[in-house]
Amino acid sequence: MIAHGPLTLKVRSAEPLGHSLKRLVLEAADGGPLPSAGAGGHIQLRLKGPTRGWRNAYSLTSPPDARDHYAIIVRRVSQSRGGSAFVHEAVGAGTIVEAGMPNNFFAVSNVARKHLLVSGGIGLTPFLSYLEQFRQRGSPFELHHLCRAEDMPVFARLLEPFGARSIHLHPTRRGFDLAALLARQPLGTHLYTCGPHSLMDQVLSTASDLGWPASKRHAESFGETAVGGAPFHVLLARSGIEIAVGPEQSLLEALEAAGIDAPCLCRGGACGECRLPLLEGVADHRDDFLSAEEHAAGKLILTCVSRAKGPRLVIDL
Ligand code: FES
Repeated sequence: MIAHGPLTLKVRSAEPLGHSLKRLVLEAADGGPLPSAGAGGHIQLRLKGPTRGWRNAYSLTSPPDARDHYAIIVRRVSQSRGGSAFVHEAVGAGTIVEAGMPNNFFAVSNVARKHLLVSGGIGLTPFLSYLEQFRQRGSPFELHHLCRAEDMPVFARLLEPFGARSIHLHPTRRGFDLAALLARQPLGTHLYTCGPHSLMDQVLSTASDLGWPASKRHAESFGETAVGGAPFHVLLARSGIEIAVGPEQSLLEALEAAGIDAPCLCRGGACGECRLPLLEGVADHRDDFLSAEEHAAGKLILTCVSRAKGPRLVIDL
């Protein structure tokens, strides 16, 4: 079930981590306990700038059983559409922010005998709560994190509390033998990947080629959604309103900019909350939620990440 909130949170502390990351620790504004989401959970912050707002989802990096605070890490995106820049520039200790209830579409498997984690860049964040759970339960795991060389010290510091033996940092994809890593895993291992789409696609397709069943492959794309492409128009069938979607704007953002209260939650193509019936036009599906059959049928579109293969879509909204 998807829970919505809202929660009123106060920023307890805001700390820069390296040049592009900022960690926020948030607590309930009334001092009460917070609902937990389990390892791999996330919250959606509803940020209000002077002229516009954003609803951005962030993985919780706090221990999964923590009820007194949430921790998140926000990467300042170079092609930022404003939300991450706003967090970096305007959100500090004492800021009050509204958030949705925590949700979890990337939970740890309860039946895995071993957990193999492959992350890239800010995609490490959901795994920080995984690692805390593995430590508490003594679960076997192996983590491989790929990042730019200049970000290595930051990620090494974040991973330090979890022991060096099972954690491997790779400053480049060169020398990282993904196929060999996947091929040598014991039976019963579950694979999880989070990070840029190019990395996740490579991890999942390599695993698939090696015979890993779909039930043992898990992915989440928060933080690096494939937004952007050719501009198009969308017609809202119920109201007759037509909206232009710009090349660097998601369909969801265009709806929001036009004052439409469109459904959404993860904003990363993972939860299905933004799914709408597609009445006309061909979708460029970029989500991880719909099945291949649903993509092929062309009757639904996830507005947070998917776009149009053509000049115009008509959606049932
Ligand atoms: S908001 Fe979650 S898939 Fe679009």
